[in-house]
Amino acid sequence: MQSLPPSFEKIPRHVALIMDGNGRWAVQHNQTRLEGHREGAQSVRAVLRAAAAIQIEYITIYAFSTENWKRSPEEVAGLMQLLIESLNAYEEELHENGIRLQMMGEKGALPSLVRKRVERAIEATAQYDKHTLTLALNYGGRAEIAQAARQLAEQVQDGSISLESIDEDALSAHLYQPDLPDPDLLIRTSGEFRLSNFMLWQLSYTEMYVTDTCWPEFKEEQFYEAIQSYNQRDRRFGARQ
Ligand code: FPP
Repeated sequence: MQSLPPSFEKIPRHVALIMDGNGRWAVQHNQTRLEGHREGAQSVRAVLRAAAAIQIEYITIYAFSTENWKRSPEEVAGLMQLLIESLNAYEEELHENGIRLQMMGEKGALPSLVRKRVERAIEATAQYDKHTLTLALNYGGRAEIAQAARQLAEQVQDGSISLESIDEDALSAHLYQPDLPDPDLLIRTSGEFRLSNFMLWQLSYTEMYVTDTCWPEFKEEQFYEAIQSYNQRDRRFGARQ
């Protein structure tokens, strides 16, 4: 029988995750980098289950950045293959937990098999509205802001909006997933204090939690520790009390 999840006073509405340390974990365990990513995919599954159990509405994970193309061709191909396999293996769990899948990033440059597999899962889960998993895939925060600026500039150029109408809300409306609320909590594993070009616009007031644990060892218990830490934060959004 599964044990009950812990209860928390505050549940973040949106948790974003930078899954770091798969390679380091692999070295520590005499495994290949790809085996590290494989165990990392199991952590994604564990975190999704834990998040659904405490009714977190939005989870966003940084699955592949625009910079990740610079890794060896074998590692890139392995990661793409792993994405397809993970969706094949866990799509059923998305249905069981009522999780809608969506993506943010530049779809066009993804291998067509990956793009099609992701699109299929997005379509198959579009009816769910309680939990949303957003995969940041071929994602870069600066590229996202640049494409939003470009779209606004085009609209000014063709006269459909005025220059004066461009404000923060207007830019937010042109991000990859405009309906996604800003994250309340950002979790980064394996001890680095960096944003790595992740959600630069949306993370302005997000609480950060950095743990030394490598991503393959980040499972339900570690996720709940992060939520516990969030419960001790005093969020003021720049205002003084
Ligand atoms: C960072 O570790 C991890 C990645 C770049 C890829 C994460 C992808 C997965 C876990 C694949 C599964 C995804 C889904 C959606 C099921 P690193 O390689 O940078 O580690 P290092 O810094 O220790 O080398």
